[in-house]
Amino acid sequence: MPLPDPSEAQALTTARTGGQTPPASGLFVTLEGGEGAGKSTQARLLAEALKARGLPVCLTREPGGTPGAEALREVLLFGKADFSPRAEIMTHMAARCDHLDRLILPALARGEIVICDRFHDSTLAYQGYGQGRGSPAELAFIASLRKLLNREPDLTFWLDVPQAVATERLRKRRESSGAVVAGGAEDRYEQQDTAFHGRVHAGFATIAARDPERVRRIDGLLKPDEVTRMLVQQVLVHWSDRNGAFPGKDVTS
Ligand SMILES: Nc1ncnc2c1ncn2[C@@H]1O[C@H](COP(=O)(O)OP(=O)(O)O)[C@@H](O)[C@H]1O
Ligand SMILES: [Mg+2]
Repeated sequence: MPLPDPSEAQALTTARTGGQTPPASGLFVTLEGGEGAGKSTQARLLAEALKARGLPVCLTREPGGTPGAEALREVLLFGKADFSPRAEIMTHMAARCDHLDRLILPALARGEIVICDRFHDSTLAYQGYGQGRGSPAELAFIASLRKLLNREPDLTFWLDVPQAVATERLRKRRESSGAVVAGGAEDRYEQQDTAFHGRVHAGFATIAARDPERVRRIDGLLKPDEVTRMLVQQVLVHWSDRNGAFPGKDVTS
């Protein structure tokens, strides 16, 4: 039997899945923003709040989330090697592919709410707008790989914090973790200059403006519990739109 033409194989996959990777019954939520915006804090608080309401939650992060992707995280964030811009983008995407295949897609197929600390928008903001300075070639390269991975978040929260505040939060976080005393453990992107982080911030603003239905801007200057309340509310509205509210229970209260 002749081997199938790759374009036929693609057509078959598309016919079977309706154009999207497996029909997701769960909800895919991502948290985005610059360093110190409060993503990891809110990912944890959101997961706790949803679990407390009896909802199935999968909490994860990028780069990383699976053993293979965590190995790539080490190389990407703390490795000494320098990569060409396209190789760096592809390594982020390779980590994301493993994360999707082994953790995110199976969790969504089980009907879970996946909360992911960073995803595609970070690649666009950091590699596309930060490092690539918004060059059309760089943005198009990222967009083509993103399309290949074929799974967008259902809901994204962009935690927007002015750079001066984020820098101060990071300084305090490093002090309290003892990293300053230990000689500092800044990753590849934290080490970048203020101009880079300014471009990343402007990149997130552009992303949010272009996709307002999916990307919700959240004022990251609010107190942590106020931010969590807003996130929980929006996730529950989205969840009940899809799955119906629990009988006799107002999930948004
Ligand atoms: N809403 C907030 N207000 C004040 N400080 C915050 C807030 N959210 C997080 N922080 C603090 O700021 C620092 C950075 O938060 P973190 O969640 O690690 O940010 P990110 O994951 O976006 O880099 C932490 O020390 C955290 O306790
Ligand atoms: Mg974090």
